[in-house]
Amino acid sequence: NPNNPTGTLVTQEQIDRFMAKVPDHVVVVFDEAYYEFLDNPPDTLKYVREGRNVVVLRTFSKIQGLAGTRVGYGIANKELIDVLQRTRQPFNLNAVAQAGALAGLLDQEHQDKTKRITDEGRAYLQCQFAALGLEFIPSYANFVLVKVGDGNAVFKAMMDQGVIVRAMAAYKLPEWVRISIGTMPQNERCIEVLKGVLGR
Ligand SMILES: Cc1ncc(COP(=O)(O)O)c(C=O)c1O
Repeated sequence: NPNNPTGTLVTQEQIDRFMAKVPDHVVVVFDEAYYEFLDNPPDTLKYVREGRNVVVLRTFSKIQGLAGTRVGYGIANKELIDVLQRTRQPFNLNAVAQAGALAGLLDQEHQDKTKRITDEGRAYLQCQFAALGLEFIPSYANFVLVKVGDGNAVFKAMMDQGVIVRAMAAYKLPEWVRISIGTMPQNERCIEVLKGVLGR
């Protein structure tokens, strides 16, 4: 939450309504990979504090930009963590990745800057899609899902011009592509290439 590839958000109220119906013995996992991109993130840690069977997953792959180091973390009650510890591979996280993750956590300026650039880029891309008459899903994440017709063909044609978007056929959304938000020059180039490919 937000969801990949739609970029949609499940609200606090929806989460609370859902959690009220979940029996205590059922484990609920919240994947919050894009959590840091939210202005008002829903509070799921309260369920961990209340001792519910909840695991909250976060990653350094997104706002920290450390996907290559393969670092993330889960927050859960002691009993659940104990089970995970028993199945965890030894030495599954190297020291360089840990140093990078710690430095990333301390670098609030970088996170703020990335969020600011992403917010600006999201507004720009969504505005351009609307102007082009393309259907899109308003996003809370660092990508936008947009309907382009033949997603595979658009992916290939854009890649030929050096812009990589993600075709969505594997998600059973063959008419859509997912576009990651970049810097403003990258976003502008992406729109320019997309326009050319769509003949608009
Ligand atoms: C919703 C969601 N969860 C998790 C991940 C993966 O994160 P990690 O790089 O930590 O495996 C992604 C990355 O694409 C994602 O979109």
